[in-house]
Amino acid sequence: MKPVVSILLAAAALLSKRPIQFADFPADLRPYVNAADVAAFDGLRQSINRDTTERERLGEEEHLVYFILQSGVFTKRPRIEPAISARQFVESLSRENRARYLEKGAGAIQAAPPPDVRARMEDFLDALRRPTGDQRLSYWKFHLRVERRSSGALGAAYTGAMRFLYQKEFVAGDAAVYQHRGHSLDTQVEANYAVSTALAVIRRLDPAPRLERVLIVGPGLDFAPRTGLRDEFPPQSYQPYLTADSLLRWKLADAERLSIRCVDISSQVVHFIEEFPRQKVPALQAPLNGGDPEYREYFEQAGRNLGDVAGRPWGKTIQVRKELAAGIRAERLNILTDRYDPPPGFDLVVTTNVLLYFRPAELALALTNIHSMIRPGGYFIHNELRPEVEKISRMLRMPPIQGRTLEIAQGAQRPLLDAFVIHRKQ
Ligand SMILES: C[S@@+](CC[C@H](N)C(=O)[O-])C[C@H]1O[C@@H](n2cnc3c(N)ncnc32)[C@H](O)[C@@H]1O
Repeated sequence: MKPVVSILLAAAALLSKRPIQFADFPADLRPYVNAADVAAFDGLRQSINRDTTERERLGEEEHLVYFILQSGVFTKRPRIEPAISARQFVESLSRENRARYLEKGAGAIQAAPPPDVRARMEDFLDALRRPTGDQRLSYWKFHLRVERRSSGALGAAYTGAMRFLYQKEFVAGDAAVYQHRGHSLDTQVEANYAVSTALAVIRRLDPAPRLERVLIVGPGLDFAPRTGLRDEFPPQSYQPYLTADSLLRWKLADAERLSIRCVDISSQVVHFIEEFPRQKVPALQAPLNGGDPEYREYFEQAGRNLGDVAGRPWGKTIQVRKELAAGIRAERLNILTDRYDPPPGFDLVVTTNVLLYFRPAELALALTNIHSMIRPGGYFIHNELRPEVEKISRMLRMPPIQGRTLEIAQGAQRPLLDAFVIHRKQ
């Protein structure tokens, strides 16, 4: 290993974190949090930490349901598409029950999952008692609490998860649905297309950009997505590696000097990233899910700066050079309540599909923490188009400087779109 890499790794490991304090929070943002003194602010921070833990628990229940509906490792029964199951379940309810369920939640009605779902649940419960080599099933074997291992508890998880899915897929215009749901780990290669395009824009705007110290907030893990679960690949995180790939592709960083820090509330995400360089041959399995020509062009290039790439019938395998993988570190940190201090002066912060989970007060906290960790002149890339993000970031003197919507694929019913917004700290 070259000395400069070891110095950077040592420095990256040394960041210290602490909770955000009342004095850190700009006075003109206080109306967002409704906390006018130290005691109220401390109370808010504690309640957000409790709420985050509860939302992680709810998110895990959703992943459990998606795993039970889709996985083929514990049963030979046909796979069930979660969104279709959600529609069938909701439409099987009486009109009165449906209204109560959608308005008040699963606890407001008495309803059992359909028979095909119950059969899969029974197979899953049986499989928990047998040995397995599958990483996802092993996770549930070791982490699913004893009191959740019953048809009743799984049924309750199902009715809870289907409510969100129905609202997301079939109730138009409820953009705020994410702000009240469990935290999902979901991630896909596709999310990195917008980030890569944003980095190409920075390359054109900035004559001498150096983006070598990078923070990724919420990199995610492809553990049990709400559609398209693939048992043949173990869970993976893509964003840290594909962001490194794009930084190298657009000549925004040197491989020897690049250090990427990832923070996430999920210990599963952190575990994957920390263990990745220890794999014999660190490699990602990147599926290609259709897409517009521009997205395919991105996919075609993706990974080439990380190591050897091999085409597969379903996409590609990307090997990641060990020294690059070792420069990508992760730890648990809640971006709403915690920050690194002394400020690390990151050149770039990337966060996609994370801010949409935050209510306005939480947005103000997250953006304040992110702002504190970026160096003056550094960049912030995200894909959240809510007007509050622009308003708060302007108050923080980190205004948006560019943004764009991108089409990833035409989609069966509507186009699959993503976006990026680039901010620069003044
Ligand atoms: C939906 S995934 C997005 C993953 C990836 N960024 C992408 O776009 O594909 C959201 C991720 O953010 C993490 N997350 C949610 N709230 C967070 C918080 N307050 N602080 C840090 N990470 C958070 C979740 O655990 C999860 O890994």
